[in-house]
Amino acid sequence: MHNLLNINSLSSDIVLGLIQRSLALKRGAQPHAKSLTVANLFFENSTRTHSSFQMAELKLGWQNIFVNPQTSSMTKGESLLDTLKTLKAIGVDVAVVRHSQNAWYTTALQNSGQPTPYLVNAGDGSGQHPSQSLLDLVTIYEQFGHFDGLNIRIVGDLAHSRVARSNAEILNQLGANLTFSGPEYWYHDDFNQYGQFVAIDDMWESLDVAMFLRVQHERITQVENQNFSTAQYHQAYGLTHQRYDALKSDAIILHPAPVNRDVEIADDLVEAPKSKIFEQMKNGVFARMAILEWVGQDSRVDHSAR
Ligand code: CP
Repeated sequence: MHNLLNINSLSSDIVLGLIQRSLALKRGAQPHAKSLTVANLFFENSTRTHSSFQMAELKLGWQNIFVNPQTSSMTKGESLLDTLKTLKAIGVDVAVVRHSQNAWYTTALQNSGQPTPYLVNAGDGSGQHPSQSLLDLVTIYEQFGHFDGLNIRIVGDLAHSRVARSNAEILNQLGANLTFSGPEYWYHDDFNQYGQFVAIDDMWESLDVAMFLRVQHERITQVENQNFSTAQYHQAYGLTHQRYDALKSDAIILHPAPVNRDVEIADDLVEAPKSKIFEQMKNGVFARMAILEWVGQDSRVDHSAR
């Protein structure tokens, strides 16, 4: 079996295998027969990731036990590591965890005592979001059939985005041409290794994919929140009608959601023909099925799109 903590720890072959498998499951392929017991622990709020992992587990025929961090013994001071060891002791094979702490899994991986379940990272702070990244890749691949040479721009709150961090590295690895836009104070130089920071309208008409990021009001400072103007942000960095019309006819718009309507994307463009936002959510179930199958797979067996 495997942990899945960071999509960038996987080889391109494994990632492409997971994309093919997600699309095969979407077309109706039978899930692999192995059935495991999983616990979903969400220490940060979530609609899409939580409910689509649950849906993926149901579709795979896995047993799912409900653990609510807010009513668990962690409120009495039990550590995440001891919670995970407890779940393993009572028979949980896989734990899907979302946590506000970056790399929450480090202590569990260093632990040499009682084992923990195999771990799936459902989003760690501003670190990584591997299942979101896979569903984004599935949606791009479904449209274009490849990544090589695609012009992809990631726009917005790059500083706080685990989605941007996960996607930048893997899209670069798969051969896409990446550029970044948004407020300069939310740009980090560590993105330079994957692509250039440009003005949003620079070569806009050449883009194949425009990926917008949510402004993460819960992670920015009080002063930044006080000075934030919805209308100014939308005009400067959002998907306006003018920008929508200037995109190529087969270009696609992505956003991990939840969307701040009229901030990152004009309200009536969220469901516009070039927007794949709800298709991303649909693909998320199949991507998470493919991830869980891979996590449950014997490490000696190659993943395939069977
Ligand atoms: N995209 C995403 O992670 O959404 P949730 O926070 O609702 O899970």
